[in-house]
Amino acid sequence: MEEKLRSINLHKIPNHIAIIMDGNGRWAKGKGMQRVFGHRNALTAIRETADTASELGVQYLTMYAFSTENWSRPKLEVNALMNLLISTLKKELPEFMRKDVRVNSIGNVSQLPKSAQKVLSDVIEKTKNNKKITLTFALSYGAREEIVNAIKNISEKVVNNEIDIEKINDKIINNHLYTFNLPDVDLMIRTSGEQRISNFLLWQAAYAELYFTDVLWPDFRKEDLFDAILDYQNRERRFGKTSEQIDNNE
Ligand code: FPP
Repeated sequence: MEEKLRSINLHKIPNHIAIIMDGNGRWAKGKGMQRVFGHRNALTAIRETADTASELGVQYLTMYAFSTENWSRPKLEVNALMNLLISTLKKELPEFMRKDVRVNSIGNVSQLPKSAQKVLSDVIEKTKNNKKITLTFALSYGAREEIVNAIKNISEKVVNNEIDIEKINDKIINNHLYTFNLPDVDLMIRTSGEQRISNFLLWQAAYAELYFTDVLWPDFRKEDLFDAILDYQNRERRFGKTSEQIDNNE
């Protein structure tokens, strides 16, 4: 583990890591337990990942906690996830303050229960001046819904003559997404062996490096994050250019 840490180039740390935390249900099932047991054990992985990312100098960490599609899960599981969200945010607030973590959310949060909305906005408000890392929870999030929403808002501004149709560009679209205050994703990680993006940050991950691991999310630890970052650092990000252009800093 120490050796892995030493191999990491601290000058090439991804600025924004996004994680699809998958495999909680299968992890629990493997232990003969209910799915909710897996979600509860996911919290250790979230904490350890956020701490490690922060120590390495990652500026933005975005975790897919609840998708727009997750609303169709059994009511019992949805309720358990909401309760877990509420209790975790409450409990972790002093830790967010101590560790200088700014909490943020993306998604259609107005769909969350009122009590969850309240703690969430409270934690976001109290941590808004923290600087070490921005920890964003995607809650009731779906990238297509986000893009549809942005198109509606932009169209309304076009109709009201606030935006000239010819001036619509990447930047304007970015500014109308839930992630308006976040940079593009550099590294997207998905656990549990599934190799899909599942409607997560479709626009923002246009040039992200994708990393898939078989580890189930509740088992994801420091060393697994090191592996993902080492893999990322061994790739060449060309953004459509040639290797020669990248070598010559063009
Ligand atoms: C994926 O595993 C996990 C989720 C859908 C939920 C992740 C949410 C949490 C860990 C709790 C949220 C709390 C906070 C504080 C953000 P899965 O259930 O899809 O697993 P499976 O694919 O094995 O069934």
